[in-house]
Amino acid sequence: MTNPQEFVVAVVGATGAVGEVMLSVLQERKFPIKKLIPLASERSAGKQVDFGNHKITVQDLATFDPTGVDIALFSAGGSTSKEYAPKFAAAGAIVIDNSSAFRSDDDVPLVVSEVNPEALGSIPRGIIANPNCSTMQLMVALAPIHRAYGITRINIATYQSVSGTGQKAMEELGKQTAAILSFQDPDPKVYPVQIAFNVIPHGGDFLENGYTSEEMKLVWETRKILSAPDIQVNATVVRVPVFYGHSEAVHIETRDKITAAQARALLENAPGVEVVDEHKAGAYPTPVTHASGNDPVYVGRIREDISHPRGLDLWVVSDNIRKGAALNAVQLAELLIDRKLLKKGA
Ligand code: A2P
Repeated sequence: MTNPQEFVVAVVGATGAVGEVMLSVLQERKFPIKKLIPLASERSAGKQVDFGNHKITVQDLATFDPTGVDIALFSAGGSTSKEYAPKFAAAGAIVIDNSSAFRSDDDVPLVVSEVNPEALGSIPRGIIANPNCSTMQLMVALAPIHRAYGITRINIATYQSVSGTGQKAMEELGKQTAAILSFQDPDPKVYPVQIAFNVIPHGGDFLENGYTSEEMKLVWETRKILSAPDIQVNATVVRVPVFYGHSEAVHIETRDKITAAQARALLENAPGVEVVDEHKAGAYPTPVTHASGNDPVYVGRIREDISHPRGLDLWVVSDNIRKGAALNAVQLAELLIDRKLLKKGA
């Protein structure tokens, strides 16, 4: 007998940085799986991935028939999503897509599980978009403040880890570090300049207004998730030589004055947030000491902005591959089950 409360789950990009963590998060959270199907490109077909105590063979996405898939978690890049996500949806699956392919489409909900789960009430194309990792952690930290005090402007500088760029970028950081320590040339391939022992003020593509696409994602996605088209966002995205965990220096302006104590109290009760904010050395979150491998969005360095009467500063750190990508995707799938929103199996 098959259990109707178990689901056929496909993970597209299962061999990638996010896909691998999707597999472990599904396993850790005991997601009700009838069958797990790892998919990747032709070059990975036949490889095996670990799923708990099992090894499962990766299949080629290009030749895979999606009939019978209930939920498909996509993290294989925008062009792969554009081509294949509609095919999975047409075959009856709900797609949770980690790429930016559909995020700005009005008929595709863009959802952070703790922030706007109500957006899952309408999934007209069978596709749900997972926000960009930098927006994701920002929203978990800022939504409670926005709802209580009304954020009018966000000024943010990110310090983003290389895992956000994928497996090859992590290999590049490791290889360049080893090369430089052995007095060899770093040989940049994934990033335009050396990433080891450096910081790069560039993520995505340069746009006409001088911002990069990664910076403008923070603007557009914030407005959509908070249903706040007037909110002003000014972002600088920076890549740093950290493997896992994005950090963000965030400066907000609010409609109503919020004190540091009020912000701390609000965030201590906010879902998905952990406040780490003592005024002493080490008592603040960092990617290595807090975020890497863990679920929460950590917030520290909360203080009133001495340069603005209604300004507040925060330091927001999270594992970009977990809450920033894989964990939120699985949480959205869990919400679909809880709310009986899956077409099949429910
Ligand atoms: P593959 O390992 O076969 O290249 P990352 O973000 O770490 O670079 O991972 C990207 C993921 O997306 C990998 O699993 C990769 O599979 C997969 N992928 C990339 N391009 C395609 C494609 N055209 N079809 C299917 N999977 C793809």
